[in-house]
Amino acid sequence: MKQKRIVLGVTGGVAAYKAAELTRLLVKAGWDVHVVMTEAGSRFVLPVTFQALSGNPVYTDQWDARPDNNMAHINLTRGAAAVLVAPATADLIAKVAHGLCDDLLTTLIAARDCPLLLAPAMNRQMWDNAPNQRNVAQLKADGVAILGPGSGEQACGEVGDGRMLEPEDILMRLEAALRPKPLAGKRVLLTAGPTFERIDAVRGITNSSSGKMGFAVARAAWEAGAEVVIVAGETPLATPPDCRRIDVQSAQQMLAAVELEVPHADIFISVAAVADYYVLNQSEHKIKKDAHILTLELAPNPDILASVACAPKPPFCVGFAAESENLLEYADAKRRRKQLPLLAANLVQQAMGADDNEVILLDDAGTHRLPRGPKLDVARQLVAHLAALYTHTRKPA
Ligand code: C5P
Repeated sequence: MKQKRIVLGVTGGVAAYKAAELTRLLVKAGWDVHVVMTEAGSRFVLPVTFQALSGNPVYTDQWDARPDNNMAHINLTRGAAAVLVAPATADLIAKVAHGLCDDLLTTLIAARDCPLLLAPAMNRQMWDNAPNQRNVAQLKADGVAILGPGSGEQACGEVGDGRMLEPEDILMRLEAALRPKPLAGKRVLLTAGPTFERIDAVRGITNSSSGKMGFAVARAAWEAGAEVVIVAGETPLATPPDCRRIDVQSAQQMLAAVELEVPHADIFISVAAVADYYVLNQSEHKIKKDAHILTLELAPNPDILASVACAPKPPFCVGFAAESENLLEYADAKRRRKQLPLLAANLVQQAMGADDNEVILLDDAGTHRLPRGPKLDVARQLVAHLAALYTHTRKPA
């Protein structure tokens, strides 16, 4: 696959040390990274660090004679997918908002023909400073993406808005900013992860779902422009940016959360591995060991997806079927029984807990096999397919 080129601008803030980690993450994610530093940026971290991490020459000087035509300010952004500045100081923001071009970074920003993303980093008073807020508003109006800033402890010891977002977060937002938005303005409700059915105060029945596929679908839906709510069983996974997360344990808690949220949803994607049964004879206290046989009574759980899909005015419903055999036959029967316009089928042996997945989509038009790959890639293809189907089926007659 051809590497995507990005220009990473580094300006003079303490958060410049995090730009080194960002460079590493970008390279790991397949980006060809070209770093341009302001003079102040190069006082915080030496250019050689970025050269080593990116594998490319680092530019700091507008008068750098290395490019044959002496036009680094033009050459660097041609063919680039984006210019990202992290950290972006108040000074850089002010200059870009006013079109100033007094060094290589500001000049190449003015001369670019690709999207610009800025990750501000500054003291909270500098962030709130009226001219800075005016400049940020102007940049947003000009179509520049402002990533963050975050809030919290600052290098100066103060607490407030102005922290640069973490490198992983910046990378996710960059990749999202460059993707198509077929779900813009749509609200997606999603279940993910395992459920946990309590036996007593310390024990329960659960399954080996990691939640990775559900969280990948949530991220893909967010990247596609949707407003996303995740109802999550127990999983340590981080919530994708801007997604609202409701943590639950049991299938009944998951159903209650879904029922509360579903009236606001355009699309419901049920990825959770919901326990089929819950324990009827739950014990409030820890069950003590003795010599007798212990019998757990199990009663069927509600089918969350079926109850949503069979409601009078259901959202567009997408189910998952994890089977260990007869994949297509069982999945097709499940799609019909639960009245789903779209179902994603996978083999449990290939999916549960793994980082990769292989999925077959089933809809009214037939089956559509997605190539095996990382769960995020599979999730992106699933979301593209569902967005096309959703738009087609909900088109006004
Ligand atoms: O467990 P089953 O194979 O029937 O799961 C198929 C789909 O139904 C999945 O999308 C799953 O999230 C959903 N489901 C549910 N509530 C259940 C069981 C399954 O929402 N109690």
